[in-house]
Amino acid sequence: MSAAWIPALGLGVCLLLLPGPAGSEGAEGKSSTQEATGQAVSTAHPPTGKRLKKTPEKKTGNKDCKADIAFLIDGSFNIGQRRFNLQKNFVGKVALMLGIGTEGPHVGLVQASEHPKIEFYLKNFTSAKDVLFAIKEVGFRGGNSNTGKALKHTAQKFFTVDAGVRKGIPKVVVVFIDGWPSDDIEEAGIVAREFGVNVFIVSVAKPIPEELGMVQDVTFVDKAVCRNNGFFSYHMPNWFGTTKYVKPLVQKLCTHEQMMCSKTCYNSVNIAFLIDGSSSVGDSNFRLMLEFVSNIAKTFEISDIGAKIAAVQFTYDQRTEFSFTDYSTKENVLAVIRNIRYMSGGTATGDAISFTVRNVFGPIRESPNKNFLVIVTDGQSYDDVQGPAAAAHDAGITIFSVGVAWAPLDDLKDMASKPKESHAFFTREFTGLEPIVSDVIRGICRDFLESQQ
Ligand SMILES: *[C@@H]1O[C@H](CO)[C@@H](O)[C@H](O)[C@H]1NC(C)=O
Repeated sequence: MSAAWIPALGLGVCLLLLPGPAGSEGAEGKSSTQEATGQAVSTAHPPTGKRLKKTPEKKTGNKDCKADIAFLIDGSFNIGQRRFNLQKNFVGKVALMLGIGTEGPHVGLVQASEHPKIEFYLKNFTSAKDVLFAIKEVGFRGGNSNTGKALKHTAQKFFTVDAGVRKGIPKVVVVFIDGWPSDDIEEAGIVAREFGVNVFIVSVAKPIPEELGMVQDVTFVDKAVCRNNGFFSYHMPNWFGTTKYVKPLVQKLCTHEQMMCSKTCYNSVNIAFLIDGSSSVGDSNFRLMLEFVSNIAKTFEISDIGAKIAAVQFTYDQRTEFSFTDYSTKENVLAVIRNIRYMSGGTATGDAISFTVRNVFGPIRESPNKNFLVIVTDGQSYDDVQGPAAAAHDAGITIFSVGVAWAPLDDLKDMASKPKESHAFFTREFTGLEPIVSDVIRGICRDFLESQQ
């Protein structure tokens, strides 16, 4: 295998080291939604999701929108049969646009009514067509909406491994409330958060001033959502003409980095960058390296309880630009990256790896996050890289090596975690770093997911 990629690299402007499955995915930036990729997939599906063998067919769905979603629909007398049907219509359109498929979003449905009913689970259907059919079949139950009770039931009973929940993928419940809930949903919201479920509230036909007296708690939306930052609430004036509300909702449901209520690769990783500050890089290319680092960092949900970022610059010497616990907001992290001063000097990458493992990863040994080290270098190291890299791997740190210009392929391969072809990258020009951003992000998310299984 290794003989195949070395000649290939000589020609490459920016390519993956080995021709592999990841290489065929291209390097386009992340897109929020690919509309209705799951639309025309095959209807054949095994009765349980477990046995699914990968087929080359287009059953995979929208891979950019991995989420396990429960639609909690309103089946109360308050909404009534007619608007209940309009609601089902709307949910069907959302489901279709999501791009349901084996590798994309999975959805299920729960009906809130006097007593909640799980109509179908995540694992029941993995094609949009089957989901649409199942939604059509759902019958109106009636009674009080008891949304709180239904939300709690959904958090506890719907999102189980047996019912098809996938590890490391955001759990989402989209709660439809026509008017206002008949019971208290604050406690249910807390339960959902404990279960790592991201609660969205879609409120339709808000209570008018004359009705407000009947509403137990007018701030019910804020109390139940995953986080009260505006992202998790959505309003539609009524059930008519809702088509234009489909796409913005789908876009929200596919924005993984906002799903802070579930453990995902965006909020549960520590990423240290090891940046080559040697003389051969030069000032303007050094800026391009920082931009590369910054573009990766900004994808993650950085906070004291979320993703953490650190950076070390190295020549023969090492300098911790900032460690994992120094900054806990994205804004501060990006600002400090911008202000990193270029050192200029030699290149001792092996020492730099050992330094980083000891001084940057050492102090956060207890962190529940998965650890990553991204090394960006433009040249040959004067010391051995293999030993220090192996020690880092043993310490549970996954290494991505990114080489530019004169970086020798053997070094890149020696430093990278296995499988090498998806952890080592090379570009001849510094401008070629930009498309590698999405490769590294995808790699981090893939490794994170694997670590969760
Ligand atoms: C969904 O799967 C469960 C468990 O396998 C099964 O009991 C149920 O009948 C299925 N529901 C539908 C609507 O197919």
